[in-house]
Amino acid sequence: MNIRPRINRWTPSRRDLNFGTSILSSLVQPHFVVSGVGVDEPISSMPGIHRQSPDVLLQTIASDMELGIHAHMLFAVIEPSMKDANASIASSPEMHLMGLIRELKSTYGDSIVVLTDVCLCTATDHGHCGIIHDDVIDNDLTVAELCSIALAHAEAGADYVSASDMMDGRVLAIREALEQAGHVSTGILSYSVKYASSFYGPFRDAASSSPSFGDRGSHQMDIRSGYSEAVLEAMGDESEGADIIMIKPALTYLDVVRKVSDNVSRPVAVYNVSGEYSMVLSSTPDQHSRGKMVREILHSFKRAGADIIVSYHAREAVSCNWLE
Ligand code: PBG
Repeated sequence: MNIRPRINRWTPSRRDLNFGTSILSSLVQPHFVVSGVGVDEPISSMPGIHRQSPDVLLQTIASDMELGIHAHMLFAVIEPSMKDANASIASSPEMHLMGLIRELKSTYGDSIVVLTDVCLCTATDHGHCGIIHDDVIDNDLTVAELCSIALAHAEAGADYVSASDMMDGRVLAIREALEQAGHVSTGILSYSVKYASSFYGPFRDAASSSPSFGDRGSHQMDIRSGYSEAVLEAMGDESEGADIIMIKPALTYLDVVRKVSDNVSRPVAVYNVSGEYSMVLSSTPDQHSRGKMVREILHSFKRAGADIIVSYHAREAVSCNWLE
């Protein structure tokens, strides 16, 4: 009952994203959403990427849609004064992200794929991805909170809720919560194979989500871990009902992408993360050289077996015709 293959076929844009064969149809553009009106702040560690309020982001997404980028991943950036130990704001229907999801779905309907990040780290005052109990991240308390966040996103109209936390058992719990609430067409993209990587630094600046103490080693995968744990995580999430299996980061784990895509039946996504993006930006002197490098990188994801590519390069790659 927890597997619903129709979810990935539900709309034309979902079918293009999951089953299209071009790089363009595989691309997902990430966005950082702040509250307020008229906000458009460049992120210094990620040249070309901005934090935007919903009104500004609607215009950005309108031009992305015109370019042919139809899949958009949204990260809510929360004001420090709104954070607490339990990430309460993250599941509030009043939170600025929910209004944006509703607006995007009412404007674009089935021609947009809205993916939302489901994690606690941007909304906790300690910056951890879970609820802390007796000095450790409590798996099951965190899973319950993740379900509330996923339900709020589904209620607002998200196509896929994207669990990026790496708690055990959360895919099954989210699937059951969605089923019980009648959200039978909401998909789950699972960050199934997510390493405790040093390539997330610029993202944590952008989303103000750095842990105030400790690190993410108790839940994200050890960078030394071999293929067996990656395959275990991916197949486990698939059997719990994940509709898309993601590997993250991308460039240093292309071998894992190949291994996982050979072992699962659901579409496989890679996340070309913030540190990888910034590395390209800082090592290319001009747009032409950047274009050549990005094209080579995007093809490496396809060759490794990725069906879906989440990348901050998406917009520039399409608008500058780097995919030709
Ligand atoms: C939230 C989350 C992170 C990223 C995506 N979702 C940060 C983290 O795990 O610390 C990183 C994305 C990137 O670096 O571009 N848990």
